[in-house]
Amino acid sequence: MNALLSKHFKPCPDPELQTLKMRLDPARIPAHVAIIMDGNGRWAHAKGRDRLLGHWEGYRTLQKIVAASDALGVQNLTVFGFSTENWRRPETEVGGLMHLMQAAMSAEIEALVRSHVRILVTGRLDELPESLRETFENAMRRTAGFGGLTFNLAINYGGRAEIADAARELAKAVQRGEIDPADITESHLSARMYAPDLPDPDLLIRTAGEMRISNFLLWGVAYSEMYVTPTLWPDFTPTHLVEALEEYARRTRKFGAVAAPEHTLGH
Ligand code: IPE
Ligand code: IPE
Ligand code: MG
Repeated sequence: MNALLSKHFKPCPDPELQTLKMRLDPARIPAHVAIIMDGNGRWAHAKGRDRLLGHWEGYRTLQKIVAASDALGVQNLTVFGFSTENWRRPETEVGGLMHLMQAAMSAEIEALVRSHVRILVTGRLDELPESLRETFENAMRRTAGFGGLTFNLAINYGGRAEIADAARELAKAVQRGEIDPADITESHLSARMYAPDLPDPDLLIRTAGEMRISNFLLWGVAYSEMYVTPTLWPDFTPTHLVEALEEYARRTRKFGAVAAPEHTLGH
């Protein structure tokens, strides 16, 4: 049995997730799902509550979606937690989000270690409050060797910043005389992205209905399948995730070629 299949048939402790898993074809589960978790503010506003309450509810959703992704056999999950543009929000919201991220990672780390989840935090971490950066670095260090779900949190992340940072690293390699500019290919840039060992996202989900990328994973989403749902992130459930995965399984991926069996799903 290959690795994907054995992971798919791994006993699933939660009976609800087990039932959801039965709806999926193991050969058509995306290896990498990326999510723009949007709509926390609208969720709170609709209830007449503070935006920060929406972010805390969003955290509860994320707990469930991480566990569901792992149980359903998704190998890599990237979520957009805070963008390089989100600093433009009111100071109280930014401060509340920093506090939430610190509290959430501290509360979750032991359970994530027990589940053998490999944590990555990608973005310009040097611009975060020092204690938060240390919490993230500690989480990455503790889980670095794990072979379960890779959970990649994009924090102070910008797609353009990532490409600019990769270009800077490449320029340094040229300056050191290691690479001739004439020899530069896409793979030289790919290798300098924040998480070069992750495959490109197969499926990009955006909640809360906006039809835009908002500077997320610009390099990697070149051929991702997009799925936008009106559901606000705090209302997004494992059932909604399975609906997105079912929709993905129906897509024909062509990568610029004509539809042929080797270009359809199955990697
Ligand atoms: C997404 O929810 C979470 C972050 C950007 C941190 P929003 O806060 O953007 O929610 P809306 O878009 O205002 O509803
Ligand atoms: C993208 O959502 C960032 C995150 C989900 C963290 P935004 O709510 O910031 O995006 P825009 O401003 O609506 O494009
Ligand atoms: Mg938003």
